[in-house]
Amino acid sequence: MKEVVLSGIRSTGNLHLGNYFGALSKFVRMQNDYDCLFFIADLHALTTHPDPKSLHGNVKDIIAEYLAAGLDPEKATIFVQSDVPEIPELYLLLNMHVGIGELMRTASFKDKARKALGIKSDNDNDDIEKEIIGTDSNKRVNAGLLTYPTLMAVDILIQKAHKVPVGKDQEQHLELTRRFARRFNSFYGVDLFPEPTNFDFGGAPVKVPGLDGSGKMGKSEGNCIYLADEEKVLRKKVMRAVTDEGPQAPNSPMAQPVQNLFTLLELTSTPDVVKHFTDAYADCSIRYGDLKKQLAEDILKITLPIRERYLEIRDNDEYIARVVKQGAERARERAAKTLAEVRDVMGIKRFW
Ligand code: ADP
Ligand code: TRP
Repeated sequence: MKEVVLSGIRSTGNLHLGNYFGALSKFVRMQNDYDCLFFIADLHALTTHPDPKSLHGNVKDIIAEYLAAGLDPEKATIFVQSDVPEIPELYLLLNMHVGIGELMRTASFKDKARKALGIKSDNDNDDIEKEIIGTDSNKRVNAGLLTYPTLMAVDILIQKAHKVPVGKDQEQHLELTRRFARRFNSFYGVDLFPEPTNFDFGGAPVKVPGLDGSGKMGKSEGNCIYLADEEKVLRKKVMRAVTDEGPQAPNSPMAQPVQNLFTLLELTSTPDVVKHFTDAYADCSIRYGDLKKQLAEDILKITLPIRERYLEIRDNDEYIARVVKQGAERARERAAKTLAEVRDVMGIKRFW
């Protein structure tokens, strides 16, 4: 039997190159060899209170982008999290075995709690737990944010997934998922949940940098190249990328912003193009303008076909509905089986 692969992306806006290289392109490669499920995590998106008017459109955008990037609904199960009511039910049951302390110590929770309370420090030693308990109801950290990892664990465990392709930032959530699975199995003396692992096609998980010279490309960093960017907009973003004054002596070390451009070039261009610019940097003949033009060209080769298909699919409500209806049916059938097993081992039985 094929191993089960599952992954999801929150519906918080269009997908960018970080999502593409960190997650989506891996999904596309995996669909031929594994029993795959890919979904849109709209319930997770609720933890940061999206505008109700835009949530549905955001979900639709990601479905269209999944399909435009090459996910095939005949090979992989594509569904929306909120279409599977078995997930919230198992979330309630699993929470009975999850500690408030371990959730409070999760890095992503501390981060989001600080944001919700307007605390700047990212010092791990600050007493965020005390701050949270002391807050009044106007300035609260919602319980959904705290139990985010339970919900993510349920997404994975309810499908009994073995492999979960995600970026490095999700490692801690996966570690918690394994812990919850082990705990549940041993508490009830069963072997119900497999322990899932991250997945990469060899090598380290990628971290796609931003064009602003700083860390990773991310929605909240405001430094994204989107798969759906128009050609002109995309070229402009690349041409404006931060660089430095150029190498002053042969074989000088590369500053971070320039390194970032090369990282993007390695992801999108051919090895000989990368070599050409690496050599030009080493002998100081490089012109960043040429590098950026080439980079924009190579990014567009990947994104423009996706953008075109995305615009087409997004307008085809009937097709989207068909894909996610079929996906929901498949996902629910499997989820319902797991949920029935869980209810049984926990001793929840019907009288009728
Ligand atoms: P964002 O950080 O923009 O809010 P998400 O947290 O929704 O993106 O991430 C969805 C998926 O894309 C996750 O698997 C995450 O690891 C991956 N991802 C996001 N940004 C990057 C990046 N810059 N490099 C590599 N992977 C990324
Ligand atoms: N937490 C993930 C993110 O922010 C999204 C997600 C929710 C997910 N449930 C999941 C990823 C299950 C993999 C498997 O990117």
